[in-house]
Amino acid sequence: MGSAYQPLDPYNQKPSSKKYGCFLSKPVCAWLACGFLFLALLHLLCCSPDGTQQALFSPLRQYINNTYSFVSSVPGGGRSCNYSVGNWVWAPGHARRYNATECNAKESHDCIRNGRPDTRYLDWRWQPAGGCPLPAFDAGAFLSAVHGKHVAFIGDSMARNQAQSLICLLTAAFPYRLLYRDVGEVRKYNFWRYVFPTHDVKVSYYWNPFLVKATGKSVDDTIRENHVHLDTPGDRWAADADTFDVVVLAAAHWLLNGAIYYNNSEVIGAHNPPPELNTTGLGYAWPLHMAYRTSVERLRSSAAGRPRTLVLATFSMSHFEGKPTDDPTACTRTEPYKDGEKDNEWVFREVRDIVYDEAEAARARSGEDNSSLRIEVLDVSKLASLRPDGHPGLYMRPNPLANGMPEKMYSDCLHFCLPGPVDTFNEILLQILRKKR
Ligand SMILES: *[C@@H]1O[C@H](CO)[C@@H](O)[C@H](O)[C@H]1NC(C)=O
Ligand SMILES: *[C@@H]1O[C@H](CO)[C@@H](O)[C@H](O)[C@H]1NC(C)=O
Ligand SMILES: *[C@@H]1O[C@H](CO)[C@@H](O)[C@H](O)[C@H]1NC(C)=O
Ligand SMILES: *[C@@H]1O[C@H](CO)[C@@H](O)[C@H](O)[C@H]1NC(C)=O
Ligand SMILES: *[C@@H]1O[C@H](CO)[C@@H](O)[C@H](O)[C@H]1NC(C)=O
Ligand SMILES: *[C@@H]1O[C@H](CO)[C@@H](O)[C@H](O)[C@H]1NC(C)=O
Repeated sequence: MGSAYQPLDPYNQKPSSKKYGCFLSKPVCAWLACGFLFLALLHLLCCSPDGTQQALFSPLRQYINNTYSFVSSVPGGGRSCNYSVGNWVWAPGHARRYNATECNAKESHDCIRNGRPDTRYLDWRWQPAGGCPLPAFDAGAFLSAVHGKHVAFIGDSMARNQAQSLICLLTAAFPYRLLYRDVGEVRKYNFWRYVFPTHDVKVSYYWNPFLVKATGKSVDDTIRENHVHLDTPGDRWAADADTFDVVVLAAAHWLLNGAIYYNNSEVIGAHNPPPELNTTGLGYAWPLHMAYRTSVERLRSSAAGRPRTLVLATFSMSHFEGKPTDDPTACTRTEPYKDGEKDNEWVFREVRDIVYDEAEAARARSGEDNSSLRIEVLDVSKLASLRPDGHPGLYMRPNPLANGMPEKMYSDCLHFCLPGPVDTFNEILLQILRKKR
């Protein structure tokens, strides 16, 4: 790891050495640790962790959390937080957690390697409303929370962005093996699985931007249309569904763009169809509902009594700010929006609410048959909408300005740089997974 990536606060993340080092003998270490733990607990018990004290002691508490996850029920820890509302606060170095080149991130998201000159976008942390703490990502805590489990991400390129962020955060701190990765320039990022042997944890990603079965453009970029079967889950992930313990689903962008939709192999309508196709306009909302419903049903029925957590991630909007996507200034901001600076919530609200509705409907259905399915919403819409500065922009390719400012050049104003704001999605995911039901 290059020095630029060391977190400034040594308590914020474990050093990347593979185990907790102690130069003394094991029993001495254990006693020292117990003593420290006792003092720390005493401190926490006598000082009620309100506002300022919480901030003051959070590195300490996190250190305890990291090392001894059984202390995670310390007083004050049971407070329920709503991570979806809040604001970005200045926190130098907070997002400088790994070197994306070393974790094989998609090159177009490796902004630093591609020469992005400004780095302030790495200096913010998400502060949930009401003073609720959101600890920095802790790889050890994450792997402990999913010990022995298989975590699968299914969906579009935002699901992939988050999955890759997780891999980078975890591989920076723990040994890993790449179990498989499809062959091909595009496919190699679209189907893969890592294993973390210290905790017997698997993390997989399945490219399926409609969640359900699709042919056409999403599998072959030379085809213009998408043909989407709303009644059938994506075949690749559905084949592995019995092995999943935690599933993160994220989709919407491709449904917003449009497709031709099928049920029982018959066309039932389309959204933004090619002009020569004379068919019913379905809009995007109903197909999006159906895509989630079919997928959640498949995951529910294959859970068969075993505990499974389904996390439905909400929509992250892009920031082309009304400019054409090939305008080289489409997203060149270097600061987050302040809350209220841009009234952009209406852009994502409808899409986000569909995810909430489907989560609610799925909870109602799984209550009926006593299934051990837990359904959570990972609501990142607001925090993502405030980060126009976190995208690769022109730096989706190496040294875009080597020959001066071009007249036209495509900018990526949707995905986030790695490292970058998307790491926060995983900070919240960790809190969701640690929360008791
Ligand atoms: C990231 O890692 C690559 C490969 O090890 C290295 O060449 C590069 O200098 C590192 N970048 C930084 C900014 O440390
Ligand atoms: C420690 O863990 C508890 C329970 O999981 C959590 O509520 C708390 O925010 C954590 N504290 C820190 C500083 O990580
Ligand atoms: C969190 O806050 C958002 C925005 O106010 C709201 O839509 C959502 O329902 C809240 N979530 C929970 C779990 O209370
Ligand atoms: C597909 O058709 C079946 C039976 O005709 C119906 O029950 C189901 O709701 C339809 N699904 C969708 C996504 O339209
Ligand atoms: C489209 O279909 C409708 C109803 O089937 C028909 O009335 C209309 O003439 C068709 N339009 C074209 C351009 O084919
Ligand atoms: C679910 O549990 C309730 C109460 O324990 C029981 O009455 C009901 O029959 C169960 N339903 C199913 C589908 O197992």
